[in-house]
Amino acid sequence: MRSNIVHPGADKLRYEIREIVDVAKRVQKAGIPVIWENIGDPVARGEVPPAWLKKYVADAVKEDLIFAYSPTKGLDETRSYIARERNKEGGIQITPDDILFFNGLGDGISHLYRNLNPKARIIGPDPAYPTHSSAEAAHSDKPHITYKLDPEKEWQPDLADMEHKIKKHKDIVGILIVNPDNPTGFVYPQKTIKAIVALAKKYKLFIISDEIYSNLAYKGSGMKKLASVIDGVPGIAMRGISKEFPWPGARCGWIEFYNRDKDANFDRYARSIVDSKTLEVCSTTLPQRVLPKVMGDKRYMPYLVGRTRNYERRADYAHNVISKIPEIIIHKPHGAFYMTCVFKNGTLKKTQSLPIKKELREYIDSCLVNATPDKRFVYYLLASTGVCVVPLSSGFNSSLNGFRFLLLEPSDAKFKKTINTISKGIMDYLAS
Ligand SMILES: Cc1ncc(COP(=O)(O)O)c(C=O)c1O
Repeated sequence: MRSNIVHPGADKLRYEIREIVDVAKRVQKAGIPVIWENIGDPVARGEVPPAWLKKYVADAVKEDLIFAYSPTKGLDETRSYIARERNKEGGIQITPDDILFFNGLGDGISHLYRNLNPKARIIGPDPAYPTHSSAEAAHSDKPHITYKLDPEKEWQPDLADMEHKIKKHKDIVGILIVNPDNPTGFVYPQKTIKAIVALAKKYKLFIISDEIYSNLAYKGSGMKKLASVIDGVPGIAMRGISKEFPWPGARCGWIEFYNRDKDANFDRYARSIVDSKTLEVCSTTLPQRVLPKVMGDKRYMPYLVGRTRNYERRADYAHNVISKIPEIIIHKPHGAFYMTCVFKNGTLKKTQSLPIKKELREYIDSCLVNATPDKRFVYYLLASTGVCVVPLSSGFNSSLNGFRFLLLEPSDAKFKKTINTISKGIMDYLAS
């Protein structure tokens, strides 16, 4: 090229959750069956969407208008339904105009950071969901700034660390929370969200709350949405159907703007997000059409309760087995379908390994040049046992060494076998 055509932030776009797939395919080729514990797609992992939900989709397909564009912000009746349901819960009251649909929340995340002033920064959790942290890092062409979720305190956010970073980095304009959190399954207690709102107020920041798992919070988790405590602070809540319905292939998510009228600059930013969506015309029509029917069906909530009970049961088993390893920190999640193990400091060494087939050894070692200690463990576990988990450091932009696995396997026997394999893999690796 006559001049460099690569965006300065290009190297920041990393998504290890999917990047590891190529490595796993090489392992598969070597004759080792892979157990996919990397991508949080309930359907791909065997969850069957209920027949009544599929019928709404089948019926919608019979309407000619389902093949048409929808309005840029989303179907009017769907946004009205969402606004009505939001307002019924109390807290901040919104109108359909405060809602904007995207082709999946991943698309929404990308719009949020893409339209933010490159000098304006959002602080997010460590460990981080990589779509947020990578998009934020790429928009600013600087490493993502994080606050600590503390594994020694059951993943509570370190609010002192958050405030210290907000004071230190004057360019921070917003705080991101993911609630329930991916990858830890942590659910922010309402008093913690209130404290974050107070920080936002004190430093004139806005809040982004990714609530894609909010309807998958476990019973007794105390899950409260940002809307319940946002007060007068400008904010954005993010929701979607990928995990809930579950229908990730629909590519359907939306954002809710709170308190646009309270700050002219925030209002202008919100308008720029709507304008950039307008350039794309609109988001997928079909999932928006069925959304109010599915969510308004009396079978919906009991269906979600049944699913979260299964996640909780699997989490209990995994916690019981893995917490017995003294070098590991692990906590039960309170929502979503992930669990995260952390290796205590100093327990991982470059000399540790697991037995792997001769034909894979060279390839795996070539992937691990300059790799972080947890990535090294994860690749050895994959090549040795076929279990494909995601390292915390490279996968979730974390300063911690550990990995995330899923709670999605529907067969109890298979789930237990995978957990036992992971547990034995950790112990053998540490003892090698
Ligand atoms: C916290 C979080 N936000 C957003 C997304 C993106 O979801 P979508 O399928 O709607 O793009 C995911 C997907 O895993 C997620 O975990």
